[in-house]
Amino acid sequence: MNILAIESSCDETAAAVVRDAEDSADRILSNIIRSQIHVHAPFGGVVPEIAARNHLDAIDTVIEEAIRAGGLAISEIDVIAATAGPGLIGGLLVGMVSAKTIALMSQKPFMAINHLEGHLLTVRLCYDVEFPYLLLLASGGNFLFAEVMGVGNYRILGQTLDDAAGETFDKVAKMLGLEYPGGPSIEKAARNGDESRFQYTIPMQRRKGCDVSFSGIKTATKLHIVKLKEVTEQDKADIAASFQHVVTRFITIQLRKAYEMTDAHPRNVVIAGGVAANSRLREEVSKFCLERNLAFCAPPIALCSDNAAMIGWAAIERIRAGFSFSELDAKTRPRWSIMEID
Ligand code: KG4
Repeated sequence: MNILAIESSCDETAAAVVRDAEDSADRILSNIIRSQIHVHAPFGGVVPEIAARNHLDAIDTVIEEAIRAGGLAISEIDVIAATAGPGLIGGLLVGMVSAKTIALMSQKPFMAINHLEGHLLTVRLCYDVEFPYLLLLASGGNFLFAEVMGVGNYRILGQTLDDAAGETFDKVAKMLGLEYPGGPSIEKAARNGDESRFQYTIPMQRRKGCDVSFSGIKTATKLHIVKLKEVTEQDKADIAASFQHVVTRFITIQLRKAYEMTDAHPRNVVIAGGVAANSRLREEVSKFCLERNLAFCAPPIALCSDNAAMIGWAAIERIRAGFSFSELDAKTRPRWSIMEID
């Protein structure tokens, strides 16, 4: 089974051809990603209207490239899949309309995929990870802890009450005058910084459950910056290091609580989403896993951020699990919880 998949929920126009091969090394035939980072960088974040126009400009070429690089003719593709949500409505519409048109013209079945389900299942595209697992999804637009019991069987244990983790990295980078996207810039600056110089309180510690909120950490960072008369490169590095330290510690503390809230007490812990590229976060989470004798697993960094291979893989998992194809009038859904997929 060969799937042509399209992803356009944020600022990456992506298309991929993925196959249900036994060996994980043979599954991704092509994975084309056209990033809009340079377009949004001057604004310090994604501008939805600009993103939609750029998706429209890029989508045809990206799909053509994916099919060509996959080495297949369109007649050899079995299913067309696209991200239906959650995400920015303009971009989602561009991807959905393109996918539905190809499905209609080539008489192939169509599958509308939840973007978060793509992130949730990516680890199984690359490695032999069995259900159940505890998942931490931390991206630019989403943050959640979920117990993944099987395909389509997800339980959210906790989520963010305000910003996503990536969004927090992006906003703090902007405060420091560092380049967008903020995550990699902060991680780089933090390498030369002293993480113990600026003090923070870990939020939410008197609250039950494992939800997170990053607004207190953001405000504290703003106050640290305001108190400095002049912000030197060393100050920036120290703030970046202290901020990264508190955010990654906070996430790991809440992850411990999330683990206690699972029904199945899974033996695997998986992290996904753009922030999963952060090496400090990976270190903290693997320490926790080592303590509790759990297996820690993260997709390769290139597949942690938005891509269409994960959408194609989610389609394969759903087909294998017996879920049906979508109708061509399937809705585009800017908000779509993983608890409401089916
Ligand atoms: O999953 P993703 O590629 O896209 C969307 O959410 O659309 O995540 C992008 C986010 C950005 O906010 C970026 O700053 C963050 O992931 N990010 C990181 C790192 N690399 C990317 N955050 C922390 N550390 C990193 N190394």
